[in-house]
Amino acid sequence: MKGEGDTGGEVAEYSLDKVNGGDNVSKWPELESKYFMHTVNRVPVTLVRGEGARVWDDNGREYLDFVAGWAVNSLGHSHPVVAKALAEQAHTLIQVSNQFYTIPQLQLAELLVQHSCLDKVFISNSGAEANEGAVKLARRYGKLNRKGAYEVISATGSFHGRTLSMVAASGQAKHQEPYQPLPAGFVNVEYNNIAAIKSATTDQTCAILLEPLQGEGGVNIPDDGYLKTVREWCDEKGILLILDEVQTGIGRLGTLFAYEQHGIEPDIMTLAKGLGSGVPIGAIMVKESANVFVPGDHGSTFGGNPLVCAAAYATLKYVIDNNIAGNVKKVGQYFIGRLEELKKKYSFVTDVRGRGLLLAIEFDREIADDLLKACLENGLLVNRLNPSALRFMPPLIIGNGEVDEAISILDKVLATV
Ligand SMILES: Cc1ncc(COP(=O)(O)O)c(C=O)c1O
Repeated sequence: MKGEGDTGGEVAEYSLDKVNGGDNVSKWPELESKYFMHTVNRVPVTLVRGEGARVWDDNGREYLDFVAGWAVNSLGHSHPVVAKALAEQAHTLIQVSNQFYTIPQLQLAELLVQHSCLDKVFISNSGAEANEGAVKLARRYGKLNRKGAYEVISATGSFHGRTLSMVAASGQAKHQEPYQPLPAGFVNVEYNNIAAIKSATTDQTCAILLEPLQGEGGVNIPDDGYLKTVREWCDEKGILLILDEVQTGIGRLGTLFAYEQHGIEPDIMTLAKGLGSGVPIGAIMVKESANVFVPGDHGSTFGGNPLVCAAAYATLKYVIDNNIAGNVKKVGQYFIGRLEELKKKYSFVTDVRGRGLLLAIEFDREIADDLLKACLENGLLVNRLNPSALRFMPPLIIGNGEVDEAISILDKVLATV
């Protein structure tokens, strides 16, 4: 239905090009170099379609996708439940101002609260933005409860996003150096080192921000008891514990949220990636005791709009109703067992690690780029974690069969090293 002043043409005229034309030479990399900022060295594949754990390129070639949009497509590609929610909502109401109540946003918030230890929700558009909001919330808390304390302690090797403040929070020189000077108020200390946290805590500290397992920074698992001790320290000092579950949340590690595996509860938790199974969404969740925002303190034009919330609601409900986290636990254990077999077989494999379906394999040499290319040629998409490690973060709905398929490609590829 058009507005009165709309004199536009047929709907079909506004469709995008779907395929390459079948000449086996992709025209898209050329368009990219001409028109798109060069912020990433892309894998030379143009993906046009996905279903379940599989994607297809513009020449019709099929790949098993163990990257899943960087741990995003929790229900795989174009899951019917998500597609239906999006299509219905797209034909109903896509965006209105957050001055109005909207049903998908509020039903999503209810579901998140009912299935977590947190009490209130704010919806953002990404992980970085959720973390920004979490830090604002912690600073507001510091102003009200800790005489203006504003500093946030975070960990080296962490990754919290690409905004300036989140670059300051993420303790990685390669992300920080190009943008100095960074916003003040962030102190980076060694991950998995409780003494470092204690000695960095001052009267100015309002919160500690940690990933329960560092994803981007290397699939680094903290020692048992680390997060529990951090929780106790926060309680002792009256400071907030913010858990960044942007990558670990929504079943990725085999429980709906990673904090469940540590016997603790955060004061603030952030989510994104898997929450919408592909639509851009993030969430800040907070305990009532730290729920200090008042009207005007925070906001977003798009955050929590009906379209993304309908998709996220469908995703989360499906994950919960079908015990997808239980599947992750089972398949993850099988996967890690099969990776261990590769470690036994190939002496240059030095480590296999991770939890659930966030796993990494490490080598004693810098072969990750070559292996990624070889996997690609054999129809498997993997992530290069660093020059000598690969990361696997497939959709959460995979079974042992897909793991076997990936392992047999990896085996073939490793045999050529
Ligand atoms: C733990 C963690 N936090 C935050 C982010 C940033 O999320 P986004 O890219 O949606 O801003 C990421 C992205 O990889 C992440 O892994």
